[in-house]
Amino acid sequence: MGFTVAIDGPAAAGKGTISRKIADQFGLAHLDTGLLYRAVGRMVAEGAEPLAAAQALTPEDLNHPDLRSARAGEGASRVAVIPEVRAALLAFQRSFAARDGGAVLDGRDIGSVICPDADVKLFVTASDAVRAHRRWLELSAKGDPIAESEVLAQLRARDARDAARDAAPMISADDAVLLDTTELTIDAAVELAADLVSQRMRKGLG
Ligand code: CDP
Ligand code: CDP
Repeated sequence: MGFTVAIDGPAAAGKGTISRKIADQFGLAHLDTGLLYRAVGRMVAEGAEPLAAAQALTPEDLNHPDLRSARAGEGASRVAVIPEVRAALLAFQRSFAARDGGAVLDGRDIGSVICPDADVKLFVTASDAVRAHRRWLELSAKGDPIAESEVLAQLRARDARDAARDAAPMISADDAVLLDTTELTIDAAVELAADLVSQRMRKGLG
């Protein structure tokens, strides 16, 4: 089994950005597990039954361009409360995490449920206002006319649902390192994460 990095945290904290850069830097594969729930949410919006959608999911479904919209995020968090949907997505995530070359997975329950034995666990966070601003900038750049106050309200509602659900709630694992990116540039946040990964890799070799 390869080296595994688990990155969890609330919406728009910087999980994906940090995960992609860490994966590049250390030659690890990357899985954005939020895309699995976004893709299932999209299939359900088109009339599929949630469990059937989760069971039918293929890697190609993760490439759909609309998955990054605010609506897809909302749909994702609604199907993500269903234990059977989570169970149907578990094996794929675990086998991705166990690949020989090592992997970075980001989501909500990676350090707590998917990869409880991960070599590195990070819980990435930032203030609500900063996260909403970052997500609003992204959506605006894509031409989405949504107001920043609306992004903030949606993000808070989604975080609350993710943290309060019974099935694999968003949680910082006991052994996760907290990384607050409120005041950090992307480069500074990545550097802190990379230092931790290097340190754990050296320890593993020694
Ligand atoms: O994956 P997650 O939803 O946690 O967040 P992301 O998609 O990685 O980051 C959301 C936005 O915040 C992106 O546009 C990042 O470029 C930006 N970001 C930032 O401005 N400063 C950071 N320290 C981290 C992310
Ligand atoms: O990028 P952002 O943080 O806004 O969202 P995401 O990571 O794409 O996740 C979308 C939604 O999927 C979350 O709000 C959760 O409800 C759900 N999710 C989950 O339950 N477990 C995961 N491991 C990843 C995402």
